[in-house]
Amino acid sequence: MVDLLLGLQWGDEGKGKIVDVLTKEYDIIARFQGGPNAGHTLEFDGIKHVLHTIPSGIFHKNAINIVGNGVVIDPVIFKRELDNLQKFNIDIISKLLISRKAHLILPTHRLLDAASEASKGKAKIGSTLKGIGPTYMDKTGRNGMRVGDLEFDDWKTKYRALADKHEAMIDFYNAEIEYNLPELEAEFCEGVETLKKLTFIDSEEYIFKAQAEGKKILAEGAQGSLLDIDFGTYPFVTSSNTTAAGACTGLGVAPNKIEKVLGIFKAYTTRVGSGPFPTELFDEDGATMGRVGNEFGATTGRPRRCGWLDLVALKYAVQINGVTELMMMKADVLSGFKTIKVCTAYDYKGEKIQHLPYNIESEYVSPIYTEMKGWAKDLTKLTTAEELPTALNDYITFLEEQLQVPIKIVSVGPDRLQTIRR
Ligand code: GDP
Ligand code: IMO
Ligand code: MG
Repeated sequence: MVDLLLGLQWGDEGKGKIVDVLTKEYDIIARFQGGPNAGHTLEFDGIKHVLHTIPSGIFHKNAINIVGNGVVIDPVIFKRELDNLQKFNIDIISKLLISRKAHLILPTHRLLDAASEASKGKAKIGSTLKGIGPTYMDKTGRNGMRVGDLEFDDWKTKYRALADKHEAMIDFYNAEIEYNLPELEAEFCEGVETLKKLTFIDSEEYIFKAQAEGKKILAEGAQGSLLDIDFGTYPFVTSSNTTAAGACTGLGVAPNKIEKVLGIFKAYTTRVGSGPFPTELFDEDGATMGRVGNEFGATTGRPRRCGWLDLVALKYAVQINGVTELMMMKADVLSGFKTIKVCTAYDYKGEKIQHLPYNIESEYVSPIYTEMKGWAKDLTKLTTAEELPTALNDYITFLEEQLQVPIKIVSVGPDRLQTIRR
């Protein structure tokens, strides 16, 4: 039995927190796509943890964590993540397993990412500069290096050939980026040595067996549906399938083995990086969401753009993923707004529409809002659904009716314990 947990917006919905909350109900937590562009935050016992590649179940003794074949790994960042975990006495060798088929991010992939972005000028994607795009390009171009390659003596020869090719490509961009490759390579080799100490597995085989034994598996998504390479706001997307189908290809899970699809969304919307965002606010309300929600990227520290909830886009994400249960995050951030707005339709070239059109740039699309009453109550100390203010319950009921999916969790703060089940 496999359940999926996915972000339904532009990422940073709070996936890390909810995976951590749910891990005690699962035997295996498996990341299926993305790489260190992700930043998943967990908070408990007064400590905040940010994970980039390592699944968010790592702090629980009961679960095995798998980095699946669909993930791209930067050994340098991976080593840093492991170093940060050292003080928590986690048995990494037996609790963290790495797919041999996961692709490696080389230092030159990062440089290519920077060169590509620099060459785009104003049209840049706003990538996290972690080398994600170039690494997935090498994967689909059939040039990539994989974790399994590191078990063979000739991996450095493969590495050299690929890095040399990348250097020529960097020259082609003619971008002014400065770098010291030998230094970056020394750091990379150090990361590889750390990575090689871990347990490499044929993860699809491991997952088949786990399923046969009746183990419960939770697939942890990264990014969000609107950043999906096929269904997101292309080209302002990431380079993997962040939607449900990505879990099939990123882990080797058959579609008919998927049970629940848990969709996570914020009670409002944020986006980091470039690209269209119909409900984006440039006023005091947007600034309040950013300030109260502490909306800064967990990976890059960039301020996140903020706006009202976009139900047109959320409905689209629910459909693409086949979401069976919803979880609404950061409800506490909306406390104090007199009026809450929800985008329920778009004005698209003068016509009112309720689906996501091909192009949602502000030139063509403007949001049509439904207004609801806000609530003043501080939610951060609440623990049961009965304590939620009426106006928030009305907001929740409205969303459930619109989306036709139950909202099972309402999150009211970053800590593990600030989680209300309904
Ligand atoms: P992820 O990438 O989906 O795991 O989300 P991030 O960790 O990048 O961003 C979510 C941010 O919101 C983190 O700083 C979390 O600690 C925080 N967070 C999660 N849930 C809540 C919530 O219900 N209320 C508040 N105020 N913060 C939350
Ligand atoms: P988590 O898992 C939010 C955004 C970047 C950029 C675009 C492409 O923490 O939700 P990339 O580096 O992937 O080539 O960048 O995608 N982006 C994210 N935004 N959360 C993330 O991950 C993101 N990962 C990538 O800001 O706009
Ligand atoms: Mg994040």
